[in-house]
Amino acid sequence: MAGSCLLPAVARRLEGKVALITGGATGIGECIARSFCKHGAKVIIADIQDNLGESVCRELGANLAVFVHCDVTIESDVEEAVDIAISTFGKLDIMVNNAAAIDPWKPSIVNNDIADFERVVKVNLIGVFLGTKHAARVMIPSRKGSIITIGSVCSSIGGVATHAYTSTKHATVRLAKNVAAELGQFGIRVNCLSPYFIATPSAKNFFKMDEDGVCRGTVYSNLEGVKLEKEDVAEAAIYLGSDESKYVSGHNLALDGGFTTINPAFGVFSRSI
Ligand SMILES: NC(=O)c1ccc[n+]([C@@H]2O[C@H](COP(=O)([O-])OP(=O)(O)OC[C@H]3O[C@@H](n4cnc5c(N)ncnc54)[C@H](O)[C@@H]3O)[C@@H](O)[C@H]2O)c1
Repeated sequence: MAGSCLLPAVARRLEGKVALITGGATGIGECIARSFCKHGAKVIIADIQDNLGESVCRELGANLAVFVHCDVTIESDVEEAVDIAISTFGKLDIMVNNAAAIDPWKPSIVNNDIADFERVVKVNLIGVFLGTKHAARVMIPSRKGSIITIGSVCSSIGGVATHAYTSTKHATVRLAKNVAAELGQFGIRVNCLSPYFIATPSAKNFFKMDEDGVCRGTVYSNLEGVKLEKEDVAEAAIYLGSDESKYVSGHNLALDGGFTTINPAFGVFSRSI
């Protein structure tokens, strides 16, 4: 039944909040949307995959979730999605810039196409800029809000994915920090959330992973016996979107088991010693 996924009132960490999630029709974004609703938020799912997005919203219930066709590279689409949050639910408390794209991996930069590079920059960087800009437009007058951009381990280190994807994921963290510096005066927080691999269909396809998210026999993990799931990203997004993180801004929260801070190849704790 629509809305029956709600937790009891005491356990709802986003009660009364309104969130817009770009790329929320599938993958991590969909999981964030579902988890936000469970915690009492109303959500706008903004995506280019209309059928998937509409079906997620139908399941969640029209009183809790609304789908908006929105290509994050088109300013009028993003503007309209934000305006629909206001006209439908009266406000926007949380913006999640989650939509992203990746180009096909090519072993040499010499063979990288400008068209592929530009497409990734448009979705991953310009899309985040537009999402942040239009969220700020409506959050500034209400002098509160939380903007969350989904980064990646590629936001901090090189060599994990393509040049286009890596450079845009680095850039969005810097954009979030700069906007956090500006919007703090209005009580608006801006943060990033940077996960390690999660076996969503697009990640499995890119990294040629199997069902368990394993590619070419091994996936590095510093944490024995633990696997990162979409729900873990949603849990961290709930934290950053809720008042529990009221003094956290300009931060890049890594959900990577230490991947971007630990070099397993050398050191006194190296498992091969
Ligand atoms: N899966 C991983 O391993 C992983 C790891 C680290 C970070 N991330 C990041 O998490 C986020 C979600 O990744 P995912 O694996 O769920 O990806 P996904 O491909 O499963 O979902 C991305 C969603 O974004 C939408 N989208 C793409 N282009 C769009 C556009 N122009 N306008 C609006 N929507 C658009 C797609 O339709 C899709 O619904 C991305 O920012 C990604 O970079 C993923």
